Amino acid sequence: MSKPVALITGGASGIGLATTKHLLAKGWKVVIADINEEAGKALEKVLGPSSSFVRADVTVYSDQIAMFKYAFTWGENRLDFFAANAGVDDGQDMHTSVEDLDENGDPKPLNLKTMEVDLTAVIQGCWIYKHYARKNPTRGGKIVITSSVAGLYASPINPQYSTAKSACVQLARCIGPPFSKNENITVNVICPAFIMTALCPPKIRELFPKDQITKMETCLNAYDKFLQDSTLTGQVAELSIEKIIFR
Ligand code: NAI
Repeated sequence: MSKPVALITGGASGIGLATTKHLLAKGWKVVIADINEEAGKALEKVLGPSSSFVRADVTVYSDQIAMFKYAFTWGENRLDFFAANAGVDDGQDMHTSVEDLDENGDPKPLNLKTMEVDLTAVIQGCWIYKHYARKNPTRGGKIVITSSVAGLYASPINPQYSTAKSACVQLARCIGPPFSKNENITVNVICPAFIMTALCPPKIRELFPKDQITKMETCLNAYDKFLQDSTLTGQVAELSIEKIIFR
């Protein structure tokens, strides 16, 4: 039987890369989809033939279509797992940002990049994945979305991020049960606290001692749980340092 295949967005760094390595070690084939072409191509060389890189900006719908098509074909007509993991936290907030005015003296629109990467792209990804999961030998599949504790508790320092991540939590709760029932696809969400990656702000690294930060291992355990237990769908896993707490 052919190996199970995963597609991991944002797989070229941080949590996505750790998950890639974790699944490769367990005998999976993994497609890394990332906007960072340089890092992705370099990884392809070091990770070996069970991995492949596809350059994709998840905010561009045609990139997502191409990325899924690539993963399904490269995986020899199977795509067992979709990790909607790519994320950024660089949106302007609404309380400290000063309005940039247009020629009429009206405020220009806010930069909503964080909403696009962390929410809209996740919704589109789940939508497209359904199409491919139906064609799997198992006639189904698995999705894990990377949200954040900022999606469970309001985080006033980054309102766009917190809003996008909380919507991801609700997305999993909304589509998890019907996707499972009608499509044999489980949809779950993980909510890590701070993990030492490029995205974790330097301020946080200074403020929190290492032992107060979610361990990558906890994150990987949550992935394992959702990949192994097909009864779990629409579930929200808050990741404290070492514990997985279902919300
Ligand atoms: P990271 O910055 O190390 O990795 C994010 C990856 O996403 C990068 O490789 C980046 O190139 C990619 N990416 C960004 N925009 C993209 C786009 N438009 N299209 C495709 N790829 C894109 O950060 P990290 O920490 O590994 O983040 C992964 C996920 O975990 C994110 O969704 C983040 O919000 C979430 N998270 C991270 C926490 C942390 O403390 N590091 C805590 C809670 C959640």
